[in-house]
Amino acid sequence: MDELAYTKNTPLSYRKKFGQFFTPRKIADLMLNWVIQDHPQSILDPAFGLGIFYDSLNSLPSKNEIHYFGYEIDPKIIHSLSIKKTNNLTIYLEDYLEAKQNKYDAIICNPPYLKFQNFVNRHQVVPELEKTFNLKFNGYSNIASVFLLKSLQEINPEGRMAYLMPFEFFNTGYGKIVKEELLKTGFLKQIVIFENEKDIFAEVTTTICLILCKNDRQKAPIKVGKINELSQINKLEDFNSYFQYKISPDELPYEKKWSYLISSRYQELIIPKGLAKISDYGKFVRGIATGANEFFALNQKQVNDLEINSNNLLKCLTKSSQVRQFVFCEKDYKNLLELGYPVMCLNVQEPDNQNIKKYLEYGVSQGFNSRYLTKQRKPWYKLEHRLPAPILAGVFNRGRLKVIRNFTNAINFTCFHGFYPNLFGDRYLNRLFVYLISDLGQKILMTNKRQYGNNLDKFEPRDLNEGNCPTIAQFEQVLESDAIEIIEIAKTNEKEAIKQADAMVKVILNY
Ligand SMILES: C[S@@+](CC[C@H](N)C(=O)[O-])C[C@H]1O[C@@H](n2cnc3c(N)ncnc32)[C@H](O)[C@@H]1O
Repeated sequence: MDELAYTKNTPLSYRKKFGQFFTPRKIADLMLNWVIQDHPQSILDPAFGLGIFYDSLNSLPSKNEIHYFGYEIDPKIIHSLSIKKTNNLTIYLEDYLEAKQNKYDAIICNPPYLKFQNFVNRHQVVPELEKTFNLKFNGYSNIASVFLLKSLQEINPEGRMAYLMPFEFFNTGYGKIVKEELLKTGFLKQIVIFENEKDIFAEVTTTICLILCKNDRQKAPIKVGKINELSQINKLEDFNSYFQYKISPDELPYEKKWSYLISSRYQELIIPKGLAKISDYGKFVRGIATGANEFFALNQKQVNDLEINSNNLLKCLTKSSQVRQFVFCEKDYKNLLELGYPVMCLNVQEPDNQNIKKYLEYGVSQGFNSRYLTKQRKPWYKLEHRLPAPILAGVFNRGRLKVIRNFTNAINFTCFHGFYPNLFGDRYLNRLFVYLISDLGQKILMTNKRQYGNNLDKFEPRDLNEGNCPTIAQFEQVLESDAIEIIEIAKTNEKEAIKQADAMVKVILNY
């Protein structure tokens, strides 16, 4: 029986008795992805249910090398299994908490969320576990944390673990022992919070979080990410790069309530509902990848020496550091040229021109034609087609997202993503730019960033396109001329421009 048939045929009261709520397939896939990264030979699933994690493993080509061990207390659910069973699967029909301790390379689990009082075997199990862990559980414990505590003892060195838990356990008395254990060992690497959205975990009435651990004994900042709706999960390829911030283990004392410590960082920003997406106004596209910037990007002196005429050149920006201001005008471009920056890009239109021929021959003699990208092009020196983009956004950023209003016809290399407006976007370009430089706009966009080490944030074009921004009706609340005025101010006084942009955006978003 699949999940739908099982839930239809099994009364809710029965499922509640065993804590039988099921993991959505996409989350199961992502969790499995996390635990198999270091090529485990064994995986433990302490609360097997209908076997969603096993099914997820089975859909992978390399599954056979991994032995999968499942525990399940309810024979009825096991008898209704519809998954394909292979000989790499062992299911123990018994209480996981009573089972003998073992060791595994990976553990994946959505444990039952049951109060200890409602747990039938508690009288046998509790004293045994208290003895093993040398701990005292209080009567209010949720058995999910006891599952987690037990699993923490069962993970092999370098092993990985993914556990779905009720977020509230971070706040409870019984959660303390688990938190202490998670920190002491340096296991805890990442927390993903699923807001209480019915479309993610139907039937579950509490906020769920996912705990991702690795037994590498290395204490490092813990990544924290929040997911509000299913559509966000569907876009994810893995959890590794999905987080909004990192928190040092020192900022999470185990005796404190973590929910607040973790959530308060989000409270600074409440994203207004009903916003549009940047993609409604156009598209950010990655810049030109030449494959050999040192050949294609030329400075004024090189152009003079090589006698390359302007028919075969395009204005370009090759490095993010070439533009430090919000607004990039013709005079700024001229300035770069005079300072000797390589901001002219070879764009061969006259291959028979003697000087061009000579330079291309030089390129071949230096092997520029057989670089990874150039050798795939025909002819090898053909440039990717891009028009100058009126708004540029930095790919790597520290602190703020770098956004530039480009009034020149310089094309951009991969250091920037260029925004190409559609018909609506054309009309709201200046207002969109004002939104992008405002503090509020920046904060909203930052929720879509990917974080690299060293506080370096990376944006892919997709992250920007999916970023929220005002709707047309909201933009219509302010005048185009006001946006132009802010851009004028930005040319000379960026701080003031941000202040005014922020005020404008707060009016627009009624914030
Ligand atoms: C929340 S469900 C998760 C099922 C499945 N792994 C999933 O993610 O969809 C928890 C499962 O654990 C089983 N269970 C409850 N108590 C258990 C125990 N003490 N030992 C083993 N399994 C138990 C329940 O019957 C249920 O199937």
